[in-house]
Amino acid sequence: MRVNLKVSAVILAAGRGVRMCSQLPKVAHKAAGKAMIVHIVELVEQAGIDDIKVVVGHGRETVESLLRDKNVEFVIQAEQLGTGHALLQAEEYIDPLSAVLVLAGDTPLLRPQTIQRLIQFHLKQKSPAVILSAELSNPSGYGRIVRQADQVFSQIVEEKDATEAEKKITEINTGIYCFQASRVFPLLSQTNTTNAQGEYYLTDVLELINREDNSVQVIRIEDPEEIYGVNDRVQLAYVEKILRKRKNLELMRSGVTMLDPDSTLIDKDVQVGEDSVLFPFTIIEGDTHIGCSCQIGPYTRISNSHIGDKVIIESSRINQAIIGNSCTIGPYAYLRPDSELHENVKVGDFAEIKKSIIGANSKIPHLSYVGDAVIGQGVNIGAGTITCNYDGQNKYQTVIEDKVFIGSNTNLVAPVRVGENSTIGAGSTIARDVPPDTLAVERAKQKNFPNRAKKGD
Ligand code: UD1
Ligand code: CA
Repeated sequence: MRVNLKVSAVILAAGRGVRMCSQLPKVAHKAAGKAMIVHIVELVEQAGIDDIKVVVGHGRETVESLLRDKNVEFVIQAEQLGTGHALLQAEEYIDPLSAVLVLAGDTPLLRPQTIQRLIQFHLKQKSPAVILSAELSNPSGYGRIVRQADQVFSQIVEEKDATEAEKKITEINTGIYCFQASRVFPLLSQTNTTNAQGEYYLTDVLELINREDNSVQVIRIEDPEEIYGVNDRVQLAYVEKILRKRKNLELMRSGVTMLDPDSTLIDKDVQVGEDSVLFPFTIIEGDTHIGCSCQIGPYTRISNSHIGDKVIIESSRINQAIIGNSCTIGPYAYLRPDSELHENVKVGDFAEIKKSIIGANSKIPHLSYVGDAVIGQGVNIGAGTITCNYDGQNKYQTVIEDKVFIGSNTNLVAPVRVGENSTIGAGSTIARDVPPDTLAVERAKQKNFPNRAKKGD
């Protein structure tokens, strides 16, 4: 007999999610910075499954574009006629000899280990169908697992079709199953829509399989939190909180200090190194890497950035920037995309940096705008300095070579270059290149008029 080892995962994600009251398909809503469908695909990948089908329908383009970097195959369910109908659409893409893992797109708290446990049980028992169930103190909204007198599985009854007695059952269907493809597909096409919702219920196929040989098995999930499904935005917020909590616990256990985990929001893929301290009201998003021994926050938001070791960032916004070791940022700095700070740079209060490289040991301590600039090492940019990079049509570059001192309130009208070791006098508007080792001053001569000062009353 051939050993049934190939596992295909089918993620049902074609539904609209009416209860979200949204233009977006439900599975495109984000929890902890990541669309729910991406969470699900990633945890299936982490469980070691590489054959993944996603059933799409409502908001199909949106769901497909969220998964464009993933190795998944899309199956179209043109009309959303129910979960059973959704799975049936995948039949032609699945090897009849394989095992089929079925999951919904709206349970992002599931753990890869739980999927592995379900599959291993299925393969070991050679069972035609295994249901993952959960024991919930409040089972409302879920399908209930109805058992025969001897505890053997009988059927799943949806809440809307359940009798009062069935509603009292606290063992629920998580909507996660493992089937033998050869058993489930022929019977799926025999399900009908004679139920409260007028849909083809995937849950009905389990009763059909069971009627043949009582072979459906149920295994109970250890931590019922994992199968919490999102149907509305209140549940989305609940899931968000749990995902954030899990991430914070993982970081704290790996050596990151958080003064107030409740106000520290870290996306799932963010990495933070040992002995870094995250102060309250800090948000770290997307593909961000933070090194060791940093102090981040309070009141800081960092997105898609790479931050070295021993960096201090206070009350600042950092977006798509690279920050070298031992830099000090803020309070109230704004680093915009393509800013790259080398080691030991200081960017102080009310300074904005955009698309610029700042060399090691340089300082932009206060009230400056630096855009489209290349700044060398050991440069000091005085307070109020502005790179005038835009003439209303095009952007131009400013180059400031090593060890330049720019006096306060300087305008650098790009394109312009200031040579190594030069000094710019405060208040200058520099529109022409300055050679190395030069003092440049552009300033009207001061006139003093004695006895003309305005007298007070
Ligand atoms: C389903 C189960 C229920 C279980 C619960 C667990 C059925 C009939 N009921 O109910 O027993 O307790 O999940 O969360 O299966 N979908 C499609 N196409 C469709 C309909 C749905 O792809 O035509 C997708 C949805 O996008 C969603 C998933 O299937 O990701 C589940 O659908 P949903 O409507 O949320 O099912 P529940 O009512 O929660
Ligand atoms: Ca659901």
